Amino acid sequence: MTRSSMPDQSATDAADSKLSISRITPSLSRANAAPATGPESTPAVRTATGKRGREAPLATIAAISQNSLMKDIADLRKSYERAELDETHAAGTPLRQFEQWMQEALAAKLPEPTAMTLATVGPEGQPSTRVVLLKGCDARGFVWYTNYASRKAQEIAGNPQAALQFHWVELERVARIEGRVEKTDAAESDAYFRTRPLDSRIGAWASPQSRVIPSRAVLVTEAARIGAKFLLDPPRPPHWGGYRLVPDTFEFWQGRRSRLHDRLRYALQADGSWLRQRLAP
Ligand SMILES: Cc1cc2nc3c(=O)[nH]c(=O)nc-3n(C[C@H](O)[C@H](O)[C@H](O)COP(=O)(O)O)c2cc1C
Repeated sequence: MTRSSMPDQSATDAADSKLSISRITPSLSRANAAPATGPESTPAVRTATGKRGREAPLATIAAISQNSLMKDIADLRKSYERAELDETHAAGTPLRQFEQWMQEALAAKLPEPTAMTLATVGPEGQPSTRVVLLKGCDARGFVWYTNYASRKAQEIAGNPQAALQFHWVELERVARIEGRVEKTDAAESDAYFRTRPLDSRIGAWASPQSRVIPSRAVLVTEAARIGAKFLLDPPRPPHWGGYRLVPDTFEFWQGRRSRLHDRLRYALQADGSWLRQRLAP
C-alpha cells in the first residue's frame, strides 16, 4: 500500500454496506416483533397499524425502538484501514498536506468535499458550530462566505478565534484548522458574489440569516420582491461577504486499525516555520 494514498477499496466497501444495512434495521425489526398485549390493555387507537387488537401501542414500540436504537448506535464499530499518514511521507507544510488531501477528496468524488464545520465562540464563552463551504485556500488562509449579521458573524466580531473541521468520512480522514478570522476585502467578496447563481445572489438579500422569521412565506415573498427589484443583476448586499481564517494550527487525522490512528499536528512558530508533531490518538 502506498502511504498516504488509498488502497483497494473493495474490502472496506463491502464492510461499509454491511454496516449500513445490518446496523440500522435491527431496531426496527425488534420493534415490530414486540410482544402483543391483550385487547383490554391495548388502546383502541394509536397502534402500529391503526387497527384495534393484539398489537403493542405505539408508545411501547417507540420505547423499545428507542432502546434498540441506542444499543445499535453504541454497538457501531468500524475499523479504519484505508491509508496511513507518517512523518516521512506527510508534506513539510500544512497547506501542502491540506491541498493533497483535498485533491484526493475531490478525486474520490465525495458528496461535499468542501463542506467544513466552523466553530466560533459566543460572548459567554459558549461554543457553536455550523457547516459552511470552503471557497478558497492559499497561504493567506481559508475563505468562506456568509451573512455579516448572522450568529457566526456576531460571534466572530466578539472573538475572532475560530476553528474549522473537514470530515472526509469515506477516506477516514479529518483535517482541523484553528486560527484568527478576518473579513475578506470588498473587492474579493464582490468578485466571488458575481460568480454565484442568480437565486443564490437573491437569497443573500432576502434572508436575514439567523434571525427568527414568522413564516417561510415571508422569505419567499422577500425573494420575489428582491428578484423584481434587481432583475438579473443583484449587487452584493452590504451585509454579505467573505471571511478568511488565518491558520496557526493544523491537525491531520488518518483513521488506522485498532484505534491506533495517525495524528500529525503542525503549529506555527514565531519565526514563521511550522513545527510538526505526532499526537496520540
Ligand atoms: C453543506 C452545507 C453548506 C453550507 N454552506 C454555507 C455557507 O457557505 N455559508 C453560510 O452562511 N451558510 C452555509 N450553510 C448553512 C449554515 O450551516 C448555517 O445554517 C448558517 O450559516 C447559519 O449559521 P449561524 O446562525 O450559526 O450563523 C451550509 C449548510 C450546509 C449543510
